[in-house]
Amino acid sequence: MKNSPKPLSSNPHLITWVEKIAALCKPDAIHWVDGSQAEYDALCAQMVASGTFIKLNEKKWPGCFLARSDASDVARVEDRTFICSLSKDAAGPTNNWVNPFEMRKTLKGLFDGCMKGRTMYVLPYSMGPIGSPMSQIGVELTDSPYVVVNMRIMARIGAEVFKLIDKDFKRVVPCVHSVGAPLAPGQKDVVWPCNKEKYIVHFPETREIWSFGSGYGGNALLGKKCFALRIASAMARDEGWMAEHMLILGVENPKGEKTYVAAAFPSACGKTNFAMLIPPPHFQQQGWKVWTVGDDIAWIKPDANGRLRAINPEAGFFGVAPGTGDHTNPNAMKALAKNTIFTNVALTDDGGVWWEGMTKEAPAHAIDWKGNDWTPALGKEKGVTAAHANARFTAPAKQCPTIDPAWEDPEGVPIHAIIFGGRRATTMPLVFQAFNWSSGVYIGATMGSEMTAAAAGTIGKVRRDPMAMLPFCGYNMGDYFRHWINMQKGLSETPRVFHVNWFRKDKDGKFMWPGFSENMRVLKWIVDRVRAGGKAKETPIGWVPRYRDIEWDGLDFPEEKFDELQHFDREAWKAEVLGQGELFFDLHATLPKELIFERELLMCRMG
Ligand code: GTP
Ligand code: SPV
Ligand code: MN
Repeated sequence: MKNSPKPLSSNPHLITWVEKIAALCKPDAIHWVDGSQAEYDALCAQMVASGTFIKLNEKKWPGCFLARSDASDVARVEDRTFICSLSKDAAGPTNNWVNPFEMRKTLKGLFDGCMKGRTMYVLPYSMGPIGSPMSQIGVELTDSPYVVVNMRIMARIGAEVFKLIDKDFKRVVPCVHSVGAPLAPGQKDVVWPCNKEKYIVHFPETREIWSFGSGYGGNALLGKKCFALRIASAMARDEGWMAEHMLILGVENPKGEKTYVAAAFPSACGKTNFAMLIPPPHFQQQGWKVWTVGDDIAWIKPDANGRLRAINPEAGFFGVAPGTGDHTNPNAMKALAKNTIFTNVALTDDGGVWWEGMTKEAPAHAIDWKGNDWTPALGKEKGVTAAHANARFTAPAKQCPTIDPAWEDPEGVPIHAIIFGGRRATTMPLVFQAFNWSSGVYIGATMGSEMTAAAAGTIGKVRRDPMAMLPFCGYNMGDYFRHWINMQKGLSETPRVFHVNWFRKDKDGKFMWPGFSENMRVLKWIVDRVRAGGKAKETPIGWVPRYRDIEWDGLDFPEEKFDELQHFDREAWKAEVLGQGELFFDLHATLPKELIFERELLMCRMG
């Protein structure tokens, strides 16, 4: 090894592990990440020099960079994601399982010499505020400087975390990541190294993560989906808390009272947008405000009084760029205006970035995410997009204008309601409320959603995505449902449960609901139901608002249209319940009785 610098940690277990992985991966150098601004700047400069990063126009986009990934490495790879628990049943039928001993053999082969010609970064990170009783610590060994700089935005990293590790190594989740592209002596690197073969591997019992072949998003920033959801969900089951694919927001009413809600929508189904919602003018005038705590992941735990409290374990937003603009999500636009890393968006002629939906008018010319010339005509005539559909921004959460003053509270914020929602062109009304906790768990467990570009697969196909956790639950989904059922038993106050769908379409294929800001009207009804005895009507699927139960001031939305949007279509629901049954059939061995009974009750109510 060229240099073997002094470790930044004195923990002998950590040092031994780093040496062991270095001996396997054979990097040219080891870099202990201190997390400083100077280090971040140097890594960015190094990537600009190598061509991985393009520095954006400093006047218009201060501190911002653009990266373009390899065209084959643009999203999570669910079919290459593995849960290697000791038994296949522990992973359950919704996860890819490989025997852990076999997988370790495979990984040993893959990682042998995989970092040759590269630097191995020792990246310590905390998911959750440093020192919060709800936080967890990981160390990611990675050969990707892109990962290091993105993780500096997405998590708390560096020297402070080493200090915690010096005190106690037992709590650390070891994560090994390689892009899987070793360099021979003198070989020139490519702009986005990766490997055709990809493995995103989790060992839930030993709480370990190994990721090979990809440098993108959830495949590579291992604190996010791999740790904060897949490994954390297994920890949470064992320790009596919940790790969920949920945004957290706070609604402040005109009296200044805050109601926090957590909402689970599948990938690219509107969490970031909902978390940063700006109420319509009429609501603002009355004094309604929405505060952002998190946009993707919630760790939820009962406090000493038996009330659920949640933290956002992340420190940044890894948000979907396309569709994000001043007209849809101005808060996100402000959050990403500086110190942001863009991946797979288009480069404009003035050194800025652009993506579909950022502005109404496209620039006359740009360089698309693949590095080719792009014009609006290419978009219109050939359907070539300037940005990839899963193009992303990595922005510091603290730059969001609506970030909640309590977003880093080590104790978390109290959760009063849980909202489930998917992307459904038909069947699902705008909003309904579950009768109680177990019917709410049923609604979450049977959630369906059209697939999006956030993962490789068939876009638009409806699949069951329980609690938006199908790709993220680190153990048997039936046991996960049981954990949900059980969580309520120790609570002194049970959150109300709702289901929303912003995406119902009319006969012409147009969205029936304007969405975005206007979702405040639904949110207010939810808060009214939780706090202020808001009114509702009983239906076979749950409680629904009548037209007069929703605040319509400032929006021209006729009652007939609302009735169409809320319409309970009995025939469609019969098909829906059949579809729900298919998932239950797969999970029959572990499915809690409560959910079987809920399904029976639903069918009886439907007649
Ligand atoms: P992940 O980061 O993948 O977990 O996605 P997310 O759930 O945070 O989704 P996000 O808020 O980034 O939205 C994804 C896409 O849905 C974007 O193109 C948005 O413009 C669009 N979207 C969000 N909210 C709404 C809405 O209320 N109505 C409509 N029609 N589209 C929406
Ligand atoms: C998601 O797909 O749900 C994301 C993006 O939030 S990624 O980090 O790639 O998983
Ligand atoms: Mn997500």
